[in-house]
Amino acid sequence: MSAPLADGFGRVHRALRLSVTDRCNLRCRYCMPAEGLPWCAPGELLTDDEAVRLVGLFARLGAGRVRVTGGEPLVRPGVAGLVGRISAVPGVCEVSMTTNGVLLAPLADDLARAGLARLNVSLDSLDPDRFARVTRRRDLDRVLAGIDAALAHPGLRPLKVNAVLLRGIGEADVLPLAEMARRRPVVMRFVEAMPLDADRAWRPADVVRGAEVRAMIDARWPLIPLGRERPSDTATRWRFADRPGGALEFVSSVSEPFCATCDRLRITPDGRLRTCLFSDEETDLAGPMRAGAADAELERIVRAAVLGKPAGHAIGAGRRVERPMSRIGG
Ligand code: 5AD
Ligand code: SF4
Repeated sequence: MSAPLADGFGRVHRALRLSVTDRCNLRCRYCMPAEGLPWCAPGELLTDDEAVRLVGLFARLGAGRVRVTGGEPLVRPGVAGLVGRISAVPGVCEVSMTTNGVLLAPLADDLARAGLARLNVSLDSLDPDRFARVTRRRDLDRVLAGIDAALAHPGLRPLKVNAVLLRGIGEADVLPLAEMARRRPVVMRFVEAMPLDADRAWRPADVVRGAEVRAMIDARWPLIPLGRERPSDTATRWRFADRPGGALEFVSSVSEPFCATCDRLRITPDGRLRTCLFSDEETDLAGPMRAGAADAELERIVRAAVLGKPAGHAIGAGRRVERPMSRIGG
């Protein structure tokens, strides 16, 4: 086993987020403009073989907890096959996915069979009109069908549902979403909106803070804190005082940054390594790989990039990021 992937602050990296496409079939306001974005040309995207090779390299270096993201990962042709190949890579200990759920119903069986262990589905509202206002598409029913299909696979539980609430729209969604965690075997997560929108409309004042959401829920159904599942987790966990099942999580990246315990690395759809979601530094891996670099050379490039990972971000103070979320990988 190689030396762990440590940065200059002693953080060891165990988790890899692999974005398999920058495209998406929704247009969430906190992510994309209505007209979409100038997508990567197909030839720029990592091929399945290239993605599998990079995953193998990171897994050998100890970063074998892999999350497949996008854009929307399910719009990539053959994504279940890619998940299957990634699951079989030596050193990969878990493969999970974050999806908007629109295409999940027809693919859930294939993904479960391919070895997908965990699934996060993004869902900001249970109200069809507010869902459409946030995502600019009327696809709530398809997402709900996707959640049902995923819940039919015991191997895909616990299913986590991610909601990003926008000031002036999302407050009305807090209780209905929290209530879903009381009714169904899902972990409901409230994620603060980050300045990763291509529109650059994000303002600190628009963030519905985790503490605010928690207070609204606690007033209706008192909550008990459970802390973080793993020290490196982005989320703090809570449960309802009146029942053992049904967890809530809060990912408060803006109001309570968790950079000090970050163990995550990201690969963009065009094969660049990003050591921090909020840094504009990227290190090209696809270029050297296509120029014939051996694994030892790629490892040297990766280690140097990880050593240069910044300590943290200053988004709470209004800093923003050049690449939108869909081109980085949530
Ligand atoms: N802030 C917070 N979360 C975001 N996501 C996309 N853009 C943003 C943003 N600006 C989330 C999606 C999804 C995950 C992939 O990232 O809602 O849950
Ligand atoms: Fe698509 Fe996710 Fe961006 Fe929404 S947040 S537009 S689902 S990539």
